[in-house]
Amino acid sequence: MAKESASHLKGQHVLLCVGGGIAAYKSLELVRRLRDAGAEVQVAMTAGAQQFVTPLSFQALSGHPARTTLWDSAAEASMGHIELARWADRIVIAPATADLLAKLAHGFADDLVSTLCLATTAPITVAPAMNHRMWLHPATQANLATLRARNVQVIGPEDGPLAEGESGPGRLSEPEAIVASLAPVAEALPTTTPGALHGLKVVVSAGPTYEDLDPVRYLGNRSSGKMGFAVADSARRRGAEVVLVSGPVHLPTPAGVTRVDVRSAAQMREAVFAAFPADIYIGAAAVADYTPRAPATNKIKKSNESLALDLVRTPDILSEVAAQTQGLKLVVGFAAETENVAGYARGKLVAKHLDLIVANRVGVADGGFESDQNAMTAYWQEGERVFTPGAKTRLADELIDLIVERLDA
Ligand code: PMT
Repeated sequence: MAKESASHLKGQHVLLCVGGGIAAYKSLELVRRLRDAGAEVQVAMTAGAQQFVTPLSFQALSGHPARTTLWDSAAEASMGHIELARWADRIVIAPATADLLAKLAHGFADDLVSTLCLATTAPITVAPAMNHRMWLHPATQANLATLRARNVQVIGPEDGPLAEGESGPGRLSEPEAIVASLAPVAEALPTTTPGALHGLKVVVSAGPTYEDLDPVRYLGNRSSGKMGFAVADSARRRGAEVVLVSGPVHLPTPAGVTRVDVRSAAQMREAVFAAFPADIYIGAAAVADYTPRAPATNKIKKSNESLALDLVRTPDILSEVAAQTQGLKLVVGFAAETENVAGYARGKLVAKHLDLIVANRVGVADGGFESDQNAMTAYWQEGERVFTPGAKTRLADELIDLIVERLDA
């Protein structure tokens, strides 16, 4: 997938800006991957980055001296920083620290990297990496929302163990994943106006549901909520009023979105209907199909060799929304499929009386559940659209573009 989706990098001038974090060592590998994809790479480093890796390493891998300061008369004599900003077809910042995101969001130009980013007209991609509490801090999330609204592409961070021995969202995405997720430059521009959903209310469901077996255990699934949260964020950026009904996930609330946290399918149903009336419903949640008939009041003891669970069907929220709710302009479902994608998705489109269904290929190497990437195709009665695989954030934007089109159809 990396090779296929990175072919648009061939011959591109990529300016890689490296921020000051331990993940800076991964940026060395990123230079290699970008060059493997056919890009010409130049590197600019913050003062912090130089504490973690040396400019010489980047020079050896990129074939160009790494730029380290605004005040280097020799470097300025060969290619000044304004020329370097013009040279770039795209800028990739990896790792993007909390400090760099803040500088970018507020237009600072007090060092080489921030000045280059302010002086360029090229699209900018950031791959954040930081402590998980810094990532989840409202200030960082507000800066990200500002950057996304300016069409800055955000890749990652990943959830997992962090350098300081803690765990959470904050790991730099792997270099291969960053290269695979870089949006084609033309696609980095929004295709619908920022206010395309102004005046409309959108309800989005996201994440898994947990069905309790007893006070300790539950039945759940691998949904991280990333796809649904990206869709909610994208709808909000197009001017919609957005209510996001989320199962248990570890994601920050997108700026300007009203979030309702739930646990079970029954609670999700209640919260979705409480959010109506609305104009658009987008069901991205992986809702449990079955729930225990009667959860045990006390912890189930392992007294027998085997254990049979008595499960009953959960309410199908999407079908109920499509069947009962008055005034909805568009009902959009998701389908997680491993095979016969078109057949199963079209079957659900008809059976659940939907306007649009988005089928994700799950079970592929990189996509579907948990990943930052996805591969998806949307189906409606008389058409379909295959999206270029890549970052869920970009795909969410493209899905909202399609929803805007279908509203007008
Ligand atoms: O959260 P991520 O890690 O980012 O992963 C994203 C995703 C793969 C979970 C997401 O993109 C996705 O495909 N969500 C729907 C997954 C799913 O449960 O598909 P389904 O075929 O079982 O359900 C079809 C549709 O009916 C879905 O819109 C679902 O929300 C809805 N449904 C299902 C069961 C139920 N009881 N009520 C429902 O509303």
